Order: sequence, then structure tokens, then C-alpha cells
Amino acid sequence: MTVHALIGGTGLANLEGLAIRQRLTLDTPYGAPSADILRGEYAGREVLFLARHGQPHRIAPHQVNYRANLWALKHAGARAIVAVNAVGGIHAAMGAGHFCVPHQLIDYTAGRAHTFFEGELDQVTHVDFSHPYDAALRERLIAALRAEGAAFSSHGVYGCTQGPRLETAAEIVRMERDGCDLVGMTAMPEAALARELALPYACLALVVNPAAGKAPGLITMAEIERVLEQGMGTVKAVLARVLSD
Ligand code: HPA
Repeated sequence: MTVHALIGGTGLANLEGLAIRQRLTLDTPYGAPSADILRGEYAGREVLFLARHGQPHRIAPHQVNYRANLWALKHAGARAIVAVNAVGGIHAAMGAGHFCVPHQLIDYTAGRAHTFFEGELDQVTHVDFSHPYDAALRERLIAALRAEGAAFSSHGVYGCTQGPRLETAAEIVRMERDGCDLVGMTAMPEAALARELALPYACLALVVNPAAGKAPGLITMAEIERVLEQGMGTVKAVLARVLSD
């Protein structure tokens, strides 16, 4: 049976309802992952859960050890990964509280440890990354969002910025011209590392604020936290459906 791993982002450091069977404190050739990997049962299925920003939430997006996280999940037995990401909305359809299952991404990050292929290699490998997200997993997320009656988009281009600061309004205009619908800080290198490990990977994105310049006023953490809190019930219900389908 495929064991799914869930990577919880901002707002999902805890997966309520997860019956924890084992806490795995793993070390990897790349250092320690963000937190213990929790192995347990959720929605009647075996699952692995990892809090991307640590438990409690303390690791900024640019300081997450993505390589350790992905390596540890693979070695804990994950065969597929569903990542949850809080994002800003660029496209007019992506208002606060809207969900999206992105089909594409553009990487604007810099300086992150982004590959397992470095150092002395037997062979340099260039993995195909034309379609960064797994089609079958995306379909399951889309079906689950539909069944939950959530407001969502079944496609979207995720632009991943370095952070931790938010973007300027001009950067968002440029990203929009590039074709980005969403902006976040954690899609990369996570998705690429999953591909390097041949792990099917998909993203459930929750829009928690209009991106910079897309609404009057400034972006506040209070606003983001309020939307996160409202959206997490649906996130958990969607994950439960994805696992039990
Ligand atoms: N920009 C980048 N990352 C984010 C945002 C944003 O507006 N909102 C949540 N994560």
C-alpha cells in the first residue's frame, strides 16, 4: 500500500486527529529534518506527518532544511507526498480563503540547498521537471476539494520567492506578467527534491492574503492568521479524503 506523507506548512504544525503510533527522530546526510516525523493513522490510513517549519513553528521558509525533510520522509517509507502551503493570491480568482491545486511553478528562490546531486557523483543526473506536480495526486486533491464544496481552482502557477520578507507590489506585477497566479515561499526546492527522489508530489495551496499591491492596505500577520484558522478545517477534511480515497 502506498504510504502518504503530509508536509504541513504554516497553520498546520499539528495534524489534529492523527493517532500517533511512532515519533521518528531521524538524522540524514544533510542534517536534521524540521521536526520528528510522526507515523500514525489518519482517516483510517497509515500516514507520515512532518511540520515543515518545525514543531512549534520556528523555522523560516528560507532556512528549512528541505533536503533533510525529503530524505527523511523517503527513508521513513513515504511513497507519495501531499504538501500544504499557505500562499498569497495574484490572480483575481485567488482571493483570501480560496484553495488551489497548482499545476506549475516558477522558482524565484536563491541560495537554498536545492539538490541531492552534488559533490563527487558517479553520474550527473538532470531530472525531468516539466510537470512538477504529480497528475494522479492532483486529481485526488481536486476531487476532495470538490467533495468538500470548497472554493478552489484546479490549476495555477505557483511562484516561489525567497522570503522571509513579502514581495514589493512591482515584484508581484512582474510575477503576474511571468504567469504566476500564486506566490509563496515553500514550494521550492521541496517539489524538485521530491522529484529527484522519484516521490510523487502535489500541493494543496490555501490563499491567506491578496499578494502585495493586490488589495488596498498592507498585508498583516493578523489577517493571514485569521484566514489560516478559517481554512484549516477544510484542509484537514481534504487531506482525510485524499488518504481514504
Ligand atoms: N507572499 C509570499 N508568501 C506568502 C504570501 C505572500 O503574499 N502569503 C503567504 N505566503
